[in-house]
Amino acid sequence: MTTASPKTNTSAAQTQKIISRRPEALTRRPRRNRKSPAVRAMVRETRLHPSDFVAPYFVIEGNNQRQALTSMPGLERLSADLLVREAEELCRLGIPAMALFPVVPSERKDAEGSEALREDSLLLETVRLIKKEVPDICIVTDIALDPYTSHGHDGLLSNDGVILNDETVQVLGAMACLQAHAGVDIVAPSDMMDGRVGHIRACLDSINKCDVSILAYSTKYASAFYGPFRDALGSHPPQGDKLSYQQDPANAREALLEAELDVAEGADILMVKPGLPYLDIIAMLHENFPLPIAAYHVSGEYSMIKAAAENGWLDGPKAMHESLLSIKRAGASIIFTYAAKEIAQKL
Ligand code: PBG
Repeated sequence: MTTASPKTNTSAAQTQKIISRRPEALTRRPRRNRKSPAVRAMVRETRLHPSDFVAPYFVIEGNNQRQALTSMPGLERLSADLLVREAEELCRLGIPAMALFPVVPSERKDAEGSEALREDSLLLETVRLIKKEVPDICIVTDIALDPYTSHGHDGLLSNDGVILNDETVQVLGAMACLQAHAGVDIVAPSDMMDGRVGHIRACLDSINKCDVSILAYSTKYASAFYGPFRDALGSHPPQGDKLSYQQDPANAREALLEAELDVAEGADILMVKPGLPYLDIIAMLHENFPLPIAAYHVSGEYSMIKAAAENGWLDGPKAMHESLLSIKRAGASIIFTYAAKEIAQKL
């Protein structure tokens, strides 16, 4: 048996009466702090500044060369001479640093990534040129083998396809020394091998490069958001994935262990990557470690916003600004972003 609900036959006049009844007096009205642009500016906790950004670039051979990147709208691969102009522009905009990634022609890739240890490699020559012309720019370089290996992995492979940790770390140490000699300010190991930060620190110190900093890609997830970056470098691993060395996106606490090791081994800055999907990790590292926290707003994050904006589905600049602001709010004081220039121009 169901009981009949009481008849609610509110008349139009009664509805009008209810609507015109004012709410009780409120002592707490958070909207007061949002009432005008001036008040909103006063209470704003987080602001983006050009000095928060590191601008990543893809380097190609030759002079006056540029190649559009289809999966990263608005970006191009650039030759070293054009990167000098970029470095000057970054300085003008107040962006302190650039990160360089070499596009190695496939005929120069091999299983060992030997190009990474060539003294006159494209990357090292580019670093020397930029440092000579624009000494004020801070240059960050990746330490990982993936741009150089024919198999696209960040480490050396055993015959049965296992990524060899300690053998790879030895090569990374040598790479760091070459990059330091070329004039790099910060080396950024991004390969997730165990023990790399300590070994790189020892190698750098042994050649009197104790001033070269280490920005450790401390928590680098095995992410699907790196796709456009791998298009740009031609570094998609034809076989396998990076799950045996990059971190499982399902895990948070493991990030504490990775960070703890990197701090103990001498890292100067800890990075979380990607950015927006991992704000919890950024906040956790910020809370637990006294080092500056960096975050990489990666290629896929950039391209998603660009693609949606091109379709008219999103306000691109606003969505980009909000993403980077959120990364900063979570605790990152250094943000690697492909939108560095366009956002800095608007700040
Ligand atoms: C290489 C490296 C990658 C990125 C930075 N360094 C790709 C990868 O691990 O496959 C990705 C950056 C981006 O997607 O913007 N170790």
